[in-house]
Amino acid sequence: MPYYDNDIIEEVRSRNDIVDVISQYVHLQKKGSSYFGLCPFHNEKTGSFSVTPSKQMYYCFGCGAGGNVFTFLMEYENFTFSEAMEALADRAGVELPKQEMSSQARQEADRRSRLFEINKEAAKYFYSLLRSEKGKQAYAYFTKRELSPETMQKFGLGYSDKYSDDLYRYLRSKGYEDELLKDSGLVTMDERRGAHDKFWNRAMFPIMDANNKVVAFGGRVMGDGEPKYLNSPETMIFNKSRTLYGLHLARRTKMPQFILCEGYMDVIALHQAGFDNAIASLGTALTSGHANMIKRYGKDVYLSYDSDGAGTKAALRAIPILKEAGITCKVINMKPYKDPDEFIKALGAEEYQRRIDEAENSFMFTIRILEQDYDMSDPESKTAFYQEVARRILEFPEELERNNYIEAIASHYQVGFEQMRQMVHHLGTKVGIVSERQPLKSGIQKKRTREDGMMQSQRLLLTWLVERPEIYPKIAAYIEPADFTEGIYATVAQELFAQFAAGEALNPARIVSMFSQEDEQRQVAEIFNTSVDGMEREADWEKAIKETLIRIKQSSMERKRQNLDATDMDGLKQIIEDKRRLQEMEKLHISLN
Ligand code: CTP
Ligand code: MN
Repeated sequence: MPYYDNDIIEEVRSRNDIVDVISQYVHLQKKGSSYFGLCPFHNEKTGSFSVTPSKQMYYCFGCGAGGNVFTFLMEYENFTFSEAMEALADRAGVELPKQEMSSQARQEADRRSRLFEINKEAAKYFYSLLRSEKGKQAYAYFTKRELSPETMQKFGLGYSDKYSDDLYRYLRSKGYEDELLKDSGLVTMDERRGAHDKFWNRAMFPIMDANNKVVAFGGRVMGDGEPKYLNSPETMIFNKSRTLYGLHLARRTKMPQFILCEGYMDVIALHQAGFDNAIASLGTALTSGHANMIKRYGKDVYLSYDSDGAGTKAALRAIPILKEAGITCKVINMKPYKDPDEFIKALGAEEYQRRIDEAENSFMFTIRILEQDYDMSDPESKTAFYQEVARRILEFPEELERNNYIEAIASHYQVGFEQMRQMVHHLGTKVGIVSERQPLKSGIQKKRTREDGMMQSQRLLLTWLVERPEIYPKIAAYIEPADFTEGIYATVAQELFAQFAAGEALNPARIVSMFSQEDEQRQVAEIFNTSVDGMEREADWEKAIKETLIRIKQSSMERKRQNLDATDMDGLKQIIEDKRRLQEMEKLHISLN
């Protein structure tokens, strides 16, 4: 939950008109009672992104992003709820009471901001060392790697001194206590040997989060030596699987794709060569966390992983992760060079651009690599290869898409289109694959199909209440917020029913800000932006409402019954009463007119 109390949250929210705020980021055009624009959270050419002043909410019909003014800043700027709160309070000139946070929450927030401070202090220190007498060798190292002074400055590059407690002593002199320094991951404490810097005598790369705040470091030995790179450990402010190096710059690119590469030097070399869309997942394999971040910026991906065996393996692992998040990805061929840094040094930016233009479809790339495992001069092995290709083509949900790939494979491998199609078809019927889309395992595109029935019923009823508030008085006698048992819906029901009971105009945006997590806000926004189709006749409505109501009530009673203590006479009486009400409901005729 947010650290602030509801009244102040609501004041800040209501003083920031959502159309004004979003207009600072998205070009909006008025159509009817809403505004529309291009969704900043996915890549689109039609304006599916809507902002509705009466609800003070936004919703994208394309990707399902939605929420209130807080959600928007959390999604767009990567803010936490508190950061969004602070930014909007500031914007509207509302002073936030300091004592609003619980003491534990305050301590935690303090700790986070102290860790940000320490990292910033360290970055400034490394930066100045690089430009001092002590940093000469490191400066020469960067220069040898053909980095310009502007590039070094842009990426905040630095140097850590050769004494192994130099940073420790510096930060202590700035007043940071041991415990906090330990938590920053920049210093380790040893009973016998005392404090030790994590990084010493290394060329330093500060790692920024999307908002340009230093959250960690990478340090490289100058020359050969092991380990080549050291990285900060994960901390309260550094989550490796959600951090992409270079994102703070690349997020501003005009290109519709990010170039995803492996290392610090690759990102830096690409930016220096004018590719302002380069990012890297650092020292870890790409995760679905990374993929979802990329998706959030609405970008597709050019993969520019190392062209050696390890890089190819990493690419093969990354492709399905990107695909699952709904990101289209192409693979850049850098042969005969190892990585973008070496490629650009050798052949230059123009040639790299040519490789981008020629980048290979990720499926065709996968198949080309796969082929290396088969002996294509042996008929049996060759057949097995085509069978494997057919199996993979079957993973595409749409027939049209499958046919396109069959065509591409047929022309590339010189087999007949019809033969290949037959093979796919046979295999498809054998394993019983229908042309239906497989539910995705994770990520933004998660469909509601796996939501269990009760969640769905509760969500439906809430949606209807929002869409048609006149339903409320008809059902108020039969249902209460406590009957909504499923996670966020319980909270939504409570607030919604309270607003109805108070006879207030509905305030959906206020309900959204009762949740501090983006995905929760998104789900709540969905409730308020689903229009109910397919029920033309009032009688259909009435039947649907009644059945849903009964389902929710039954489930809630069942739960009560299971939790009942045998000696609880009042509880027993209540259940008997509930049962009677339920029978009444079954006979009930809900009339909407
Ligand atoms: N890496 C790491 N620890 C290592 C080696 C690599 O964390 N011991 C990470 C770094 O983020 C590095 C990336 O993996 O940037 C790619 O590694 P590699 O290809 O070996 O290095 P390059 O980026 O090519 O580094 P350089 O050009 O500086 O040799
Ligand atoms: Mn390299």
